[in-house]
Amino acid sequence: MTAPEQSTRLDLFINRMVSQRACLDFAIAQTASMAGPVFELGLGNGRTYHHMRERISGRDIFVFERAVASHPDSRPAEELTILGDVRETLPAALTRFGDGASLIHADLGGHNRAKNDEFARMVSPLVEPLLVVGGLMVSSDRMYFEALEELPLPADAVEGRCFIYRRNA
Ligand SMILES: C[S@@+](CC[C@H](N)C(=O)[O-])C[C@H]1O[C@@H](n2cnc3c(N)ncnc32)[C@H](O)[C@@H]1O
Repeated sequence: MTAPEQSTRLDLFINRMVSQRACLDFAIAQTASMAGPVFELGLGNGRTYHHMRERISGRDIFVFERAVASHPDSRPAEELTILGDVRETLPAALTRFGDGASLIHADLGGHNRAKNDEFARMVSPLVEPLLVVGGLMVSSDRMYFEALEELPLPADAVEGRCFIYRRNA
């Protein structure tokens, strides 16, 4: 889907939500036969976490968040919550999990697009080594990976509002 040129803030918000769901549903289906854990980077209100928890079976979903403040229905178990700044917890996760994640979803940004882009550049090399071969990464911001392939978006997603990457080798 292509966004109209003059998008309002409401359009942008709706496009982001619709795109998150479409990309997550695509990535969940594509990785359904994989056993590795799923990582949710940025819990926030917990809406995408809740969606993933309802749609994913047979895989642990670990949540990376600096301070849990989600809706009570969307609170991960303590043993699946990795508290702290992802700049520190992602390198620690590499030691713990290796390159084992089947699916990583990142929604770490705020309202400032330039800051989100700067953060995405910084965090990309911390995310890339965590994904298993064949695993998918879904992000609300463009990422800057060395070896992951950017995939075309599913039909319902809006260009530029969500990104999907796959580790091929
Ligand atoms: C936009 S919200 C996530 C919204 C979520 N996808 C949902 O559906 O409700 C972004 C979250 O990322 C977290 N976050 C941002 N930067 C972070 C960092 N450096 N380390 C850990 N968490 C971070 C924030 O605390 C915030 O809760």
